[in-house]
Parts: sequence; structure tokens; C-alpha cells
Amino acid sequence: MNKDCIILGIESSCDDTSAAVVCNGLLLSNVTASQAVHEAYGGVVPELASRAHQQNIVPVVDQALKQAGVEAEQLSAIAFTRGPGLMGSLLVGVSFAKGLAASLGIPMIDVNHLHGHVLAHFIHTEEDDYQSPPFPFLCLLVSGGNSQIVLVRSYKDMEIIGQTIDDAAGEAIDKCSKVMGLGYPGGPIIDRLARQGNADAFHFAKPSIPGYDYSFSGLKTSFLYSLREWVKEDPDFVEHHKADLAASLERTIVEILMNKLYHAAKDLGIRDVAVAGGVSANNGLRNAFHAYAKRYGWRVYIPRFSYTTDNAAMIAITGYFKYQDHEFCPMEAPAYSRVAH
Ligand code: KG4
Repeated sequence: MNKDCIILGIESSCDDTSAAVVCNGLLLSNVTASQAVHEAYGGVVPELASRAHQQNIVPVVDQALKQAGVEAEQLSAIAFTRGPGLMGSLLVGVSFAKGLAASLGIPMIDVNHLHGHVLAHFIHTEEDDYQSPPFPFLCLLVSGGNSQIVLVRSYKDMEIIGQTIDDAAGEAIDKCSKVMGLGYPGGPIIDRLARQGNADAFHFAKPSIPGYDYSFSGLKTSFLYSLREWVKEDPDFVEHHKADLAASLERTIVEILMNKLYHAAKDLGIRDVAVAGGVSANNGLRNAFHAYAKRYGWRVYIPRFSYTTDNAAMIAITGYFKYQDHEFCPMEAPAYSRVAH
């Protein structure tokens, strides 16, 4: 009789401590502790993030195992985010994974956080009927740290065909939100406000760079400078126009993202198009995907909200695929903050 393949996934690359259990490819639990401590600073404070991971990691893993009804001794392997991310944050998850794997005498599987986001489309529970994309597909990966168009040929064959040359889309949203004096993270706030605003009220600079690459720093500067001028005329400008500002900013970012994605899909003749990462929670972007599906015959794949932002379910499922190929990593494998492995 084949033994069950049970993978514990651990994610700690930024400000979410998460643990998940996947059994034979099905998700049994996914527990995440987010860190409210950063709200007061308008951005993630790395030192505070690693301290919070230290506090959260044991109870989060414990809860993930309990919810899954799995004993640590039943685990087949431990998958963990090795990078990219904040080094201090990564070290907590990586060290914990190493310690637990060593004590249980089971293999470790290192996961590239960005691959995890893409493979979130393969997370399934017993009850769901989510259709995973067939290979090859294109994935727009948009988060606080990345904006990429990825050509996904298989679970392990992914090619970045376009990416931001400066800020990520989520970073631009968060910074513009900060300039408006709204809270952190700005993404969900801008999303909420945008639903009530006029998306054509304001126009901001759009980049013109070749190929499938993105750029968002010009838009951010254009937003900042425009706002400064408007506030000179009316000190309460933001308060009076925040919904229109949010809707116009969101429209601009969505147009930039979709335009390059459209050209990539057309040039490559690919109609299966997915979106992943924290910004894929954005309603304007989700609506644009549906509109493109109608207009261009795309089949679109939009993850559940809980799998858009950082989570360990995506790490555990990636670990499950790597386990099938016996792709384990040595105990001495260090975390990496930037270079994608
Ligand atoms: O993937 P993620 O959780 O973390 C990494 O960056 O790895 O993405 C976080 C980003 C933040 O910039 C946040 O503002 C953005 O995702 N975000 C959103 C929404 N929810 C989260 N952006 C736009 N609309 C949203 N609803």
C-alpha cells in the first residue's frame, strides 16, 4: 500500500507567518498570522517582522497540524520559502523548517516564493471545483515586491518574459496611498475607495518602455506631483476627491498591467491567462481579466482571495510537486533575499 504523502508548508518571507498541510495534493489546513504591528509605520519594518515571526511560528505550525488532524511524525517532508524575501523574516521560517525536519528525520524542500504564487492555482481542497490552468499558460504575478509576466510551461519550467524595471505594482499602490494619508497596506483601501469613484476623473503618466517589461515609478511620481499642485489650490483636495483619485490610480495601473499582458498573450498565441500575488485581490484587475476573457476569448484563472496574498498553502502544494520528483534540498541551503533560484 502506498503511504500518504503529507507535506507541511512554511511561509515567512515578509510579514505573514503561515503554515499549511497538503495530503496527497489536497489542502487540509492553511493558517496565517498577519502582523498588524507595521500599520503604524506605513510599511513593513524588517526587524519587527522577524520578531513577530519568532512569536508566531510555533503556534501557527501547531494550529496547521491540528486543523489538518496530522501528527508531526506523519509528515513526509517540510517545504519552506527559501527566498526571495526579507532576510530576517526568511531566517525564522528556514531555521524552523530545518530544526523540525532534522528532529523528525525527514527531507526538506526549498520553494521559490514566486513559483509558489504561480502554483497557488493548483491548490485544491476536497470540496472545491477550481479549474487549474493547463500548461502552457501565462501568469501575471503582481505583488508588493514583484510585477512579472511568467510563461509557465510546467510546474518547474517557468520563464519570466517581462518584469518591472523599478517599482512593483503593489508598491506603487501602497506609496500613492501613503501620499494620500491613507492606511497601510494601501491596496485594499484603494480597492474599496475605487469602487465608489470615477476612474476617468484624473489622468496620470503611463510608461512607454519596450517589450513586456513594466515600470511604475513614473506613475508614482506623476501622482505625487499632481497631488502636490492640487493640494496647493485646495488643502482638503484628498478628502474631497479620494474615491476619484483611487479609482483613477487603479484604472491606470490596471491598464498598464493588462496592456503588456495582452501583447504577450497575443504574440505567444496563449489564451490561458492567470493572475497571482497580492494585487490579484484587486477588484478592478479581476474585472479587467473577465472583460479580456469576453473580448479576446481568454480562459482566465483568478485565485481565491485567501491564496492571493502570502500563504503557506502555495508553498505546501509546490513542495508536493517537488516531492514527486524527489527534489529535496540539503540542510546547509541558505535563505536568499533577492536572487531567484
Ligand atoms: O503577495 P503579497 O501579499 O506580498 C508580497 O509582496 O509578496 O502582496 C502584497 C501587496 C501589497 O502591495 C498590497 O497593497 C497589495 O498586495 N494588495 C492589493 C489588494 N490587496 C493586497 N492591491 C490592490 N488591491 C487589493 N485588493
